[in-house]
Amino acid sequence: MRSEALVLYFTLLQIAGAGFPEDSEPISISHGNYTKQYPAFVGHKPGRNNTQRHKLDIQLILIMNRTLYIAASRDHIYTVDTETANGDEIFFSKKMTWKSRQADVDTCRMKGKHKDECHNFIKVLLQQNGDTLFVCGTNAFNPSCRTYKMDSLEALGEEISGMARCPYDAKHANVALFADGKLYSATVTDFLAIDAVIYRSLGDSPTLRTVKHDSKWLKEPYFVQAVNYGDFIYFFFREIAMEYNTMGKVVFPRVARVCKNDRGGSPRVLEKQWTSFLKSRLNCSIPGDSHFYFNILQAVTDVIHINGRDVVMATFSTPYNSIPGSAVCAYDMAEVARAFTGRFKEQKSPDSTWTPFPEERVPKPRPGSCAGTPSMERYKVSNEFPDDTLNFIKMHPLMDEAVPSIAHRPWFLKTMVRYRLTRIVVDNEAGPHRNHTVVFLGSEKGIILKFLAKMNKGFLNDSLFLEELNVYNPDKCSIDGVEDKRIIGMQIDSKSNALWVAFTSCVVKVPLSRCERHGRCKKSCIASRDPYCGWVSEGACRQVTTNTKSAFEQDVEHGNTDGLGDCQNTFVALN
Ligand SMILES: *[C@@H]1O[C@H](CO)[C@@H](O)[C@H](O)[C@H]1NC(C)=O
Ligand SMILES: *[C@@H]1O[C@H](CO)[C@@H](O)[C@H](O)[C@H]1NC(C)=O
Ligand SMILES: *[C@@H]1O[C@H](CO)[C@@H](O)[C@H](O)[C@H]1NC(C)=O
Ligand SMILES: *[C@@H]1O[C@H](CO)[C@@H](O)[C@H](O)[C@H]1NC(C)=O
Ligand SMILES: *[C@@H]1O[C@H](CO)[C@@H](O)[C@H](O)[C@H]1NC(C)=O
Ligand SMILES: *[C@@H]1O[C@H](CO)[C@@H](O)[C@H](O)[C@H]1NC(C)=O
Repeated sequence: MRSEALVLYFTLLQIAGAGFPEDSEPISISHGNYTKQYPAFVGHKPGRNNTQRHKLDIQLILIMNRTLYIAASRDHIYTVDTETANGDEIFFSKKMTWKSRQADVDTCRMKGKHKDECHNFIKVLLQQNGDTLFVCGTNAFNPSCRTYKMDSLEALGEEISGMARCPYDAKHANVALFADGKLYSATVTDFLAIDAVIYRSLGDSPTLRTVKHDSKWLKEPYFVQAVNYGDFIYFFFREIAMEYNTMGKVVFPRVARVCKNDRGGSPRVLEKQWTSFLKSRLNCSIPGDSHFYFNILQAVTDVIHINGRDVVMATFSTPYNSIPGSAVCAYDMAEVARAFTGRFKEQKSPDSTWTPFPEERVPKPRPGSCAGTPSMERYKVSNEFPDDTLNFIKMHPLMDEAVPSIAHRPWFLKTMVRYRLTRIVVDNEAGPHRNHTVVFLGSEKGIILKFLAKMNKGFLNDSLFLEELNVYNPDKCSIDGVEDKRIIGMQIDSKSNALWVAFTSCVVKVPLSRCERHGRCKKSCIASRDPYCGWVSEGACRQVTTNTKSAFEQDVEHGNTDGLGDCQNTFVALN
């Protein structure tokens, strides 16, 4: 075993001894034999003789206005009406084709790329205005963006360059969002994927970027999420840690932010570059003597409002060359903001270790602040900042302290399995009273884990493992015997009570719960503690929603089944 694996192993032993919640068992399990009944989309149009299968290479899915948009690689975007998607197979209602230009394909081939890589892989799909979509594709390694009508998928206007908005290679991770009509994107800007960038374009502000080829700013980042929150846009990613240079390359999870009102530096320093770029390490670790860190940030939710706090939840894993292990950590946005008001980190000379920068030597106004805020009254626009402040932030974008996770420990752990948890979505209005928070985790092996996020003394740090389900359907999703079970996207669709799960070759519509599996056994129904399930007066376990008018019983808090008789054919008979 590699040393990393050993550390994890021993850390877990230690923790188990200390009564830390180990890998817990789910209350219910559903195998592929049960979930194979769920409808799947495989790229077909209704009413055709659909025996032919195309390789879809799905890149992302997104629900907007009751429509599921499926961006497949091979030059297509499909739309599916979420309300009518039922039965065995789900068909698309519209399909938009946007092929790479032949000249671009020729160049792509000439540069030595395989013809399968020279398609137009859709990597950005955003709602731009009330009724338009902004779409970018790799376009045979010459990225390009275009606007489309949301309902008809008709192209509007000309293509614009996708450089710094979309990666060249479909394999690269990127993120993008619109805020106040401006596009914030994080990607690589060149064919060889050397120049990584956090970029702002379009709208009425100057185009801004991170400093080029400066490893203090970004070092081989893998972007995971972008979030619009308050005066800032936050970016979540992982990258090679420059401050940790003693033992070869180590990857750290990060959060960075920029001010939305940043207009760049002065003509002398940081012109057309961010003046407000700050980044900090995220701490997702198991406490104990040998402190184990989960460093491979995999996915982050949007900001979620729970119990008066704004939080993000994230999944982390061990590195790909070590034994699989995953953790979910949650971060309070107030703690994230606090890390950015703390000390900066510096390296006095190349080769020396990184140390906190003395607070009294930090120039004023404080580097990295937004112009026009109360403490910055004299500076209405970022390009008025003095050179000292700008030079400082150019050299010191890294904060000294890591952002602690809520309760200083992972909230959910999965270590004794052969997969990593790579996706996360949250329903924070779960159940008939919309007052429960349910988290769905997606893995590399088609497995979905569902847990209830619980409060403990008003603290968001307890979890109850409700369900484990295998939703990969080999009959529908494998092509020529090839099975790719990685879950690449998930979307919660509360109106249809469904979780849409995307694999590279299919999209499966999975109900949020499987109440019917408890049949007529009240004990099993109540013991499921599933906020989506209730025992109804007809004597059955049913899905309950805000629309459920008749009376029902559930006990999400305690699952108290005292006095309820045993049943014969309970849920335990799984297949
Ligand atoms: C569908 O097409 C396949 C192959 O083209 C053919 O063998 C089959 O009979 C067709 N089925 C129907 C219902 O038309
Ligand atoms: C949303 O869908 C409804 C019904 O299909 C349609 O009338 C409306 O125009 C759509 N809105 C947008 C912004 O596309
Ligand atoms: C991460 O959090 C743990 C638990 O609070 C703490 O002991 C450790 O020092 C933190 N690590 C960093 C790098 O801040
Ligand atoms: C959710 O709301 C219901 C009805 O108001 C209440 O009985 C229950 O205690 C609430 N649960 C939580 C966790 O707030
Ligand atoms: C959650 O946090 C509260 C308050 O800090 C603490 O009392 C409780 O033991 C924690 N629960 C878990 C499971 O960590
Ligand atoms: C699924 O069903 C088949 C046929 O009924 C059975 O042979 C197989 O063992 C089942 N698989 C599981 C995991 O229960």
